[in-house]
Amino acid sequence: METNTSPLILDGRTLSKTIREELSEQVASWMAGGGKQPHLAAILVGDDGASQTYVSSKVKGCEQTGMKSSLFRFPAETSEQEILDKIDALNNDHDIDGFIVQLPLPKHIDELKVTLAIDPAKDVDGFHPENAGRIQLGLPAFVSATPMGIMTMLERYQIETSGKHCVVIGRSNIVGTPMSILLSRNTNPGNCTVTLCHSRTPDIAAVCREADIIVAALGKPRFVTADMVKEGAVVVDVGITRVPADNDKGYVIAGDVDYDQVAPKCSAITPVPGGVGVMTVTSLLMNTFQAAQRKSF
Ligand code: GUN
Repeated sequence: METNTSPLILDGRTLSKTIREELSEQVASWMAGGGKQPHLAAILVGDDGASQTYVSSKVKGCEQTGMKSSLFRFPAETSEQEILDKIDALNNDHDIDGFIVQLPLPKHIDELKVTLAIDPAKDVDGFHPENAGRIQLGLPAFVSATPMGIMTMLERYQIETSGKHCVVIGRSNIVGTPMSILLSRNTNPGNCTVTLCHSRTPDIAAVCREADIIVAALGKPRFVTADMVKEGAVVVDVGITRVPADNDKGYVIAGDVDYDQVAPKCSAITPVPGGVGVMTVTSLLMNTFQAAQRKSF
């Protein structure tokens, strides 16, 4: 069988740089026309290392694009009510256009309760049921940042999706499920026949071998191996897991795809790091600018 040894690398860093430059110009011209400076707030509870890194990159992204950011940090033992009170304050703060509560939250805080408390018009993460439901109906809404980043990558790299069979692995509310909906809609990118695999799917490898496009979003390092991938497939890796390693940091970042083995079989693939992760932050910035321009849908 012929092997494709040089896949197209779907480079999230380069694409993000381009999009953030475009966004800075749009923000500058919005403000020159009298628009207020877009303002993103983030609530971070506890001291999880990965969450701190993600939130710092969101704050940095705001600086890069001329937007304002405010970070509200709370210790891990903060009560659920204190977080709900902060959300209420941000919902009513007219200077804040959009805000996020970084997940995961400590066990004693109910993530669903927190998500439901966020004003859908400021829910730039797109996690509120109103935004999730609107996406399902094809109505304007905040699309959750990771699926939006993947759709943007497919669009900007002109990956043909129409009529393709896409296998999404993982059914999370914030990635797998919205991804399956977005790719099946009558849009470009979209128009895929989608199979959503999860922990009860009997033979995921066999399903994956039928895929033209694989979106791996299950959070298991190097789960997708070369034998699961059809020659010429497009592979999108959403995984970002810290795997213990004997280096200065004590860990390496691993994706859900065994990149070195899988890449030679692909027509296109996203690397980890430098693929989907950075696009997630870029999408959040795009949503924040959208929130600043349009107070409600
Ligand atoms: N935790 C992991 N991904 C995300 C995300 O996109 N938004 C928030 N708020 N928390 C996360």
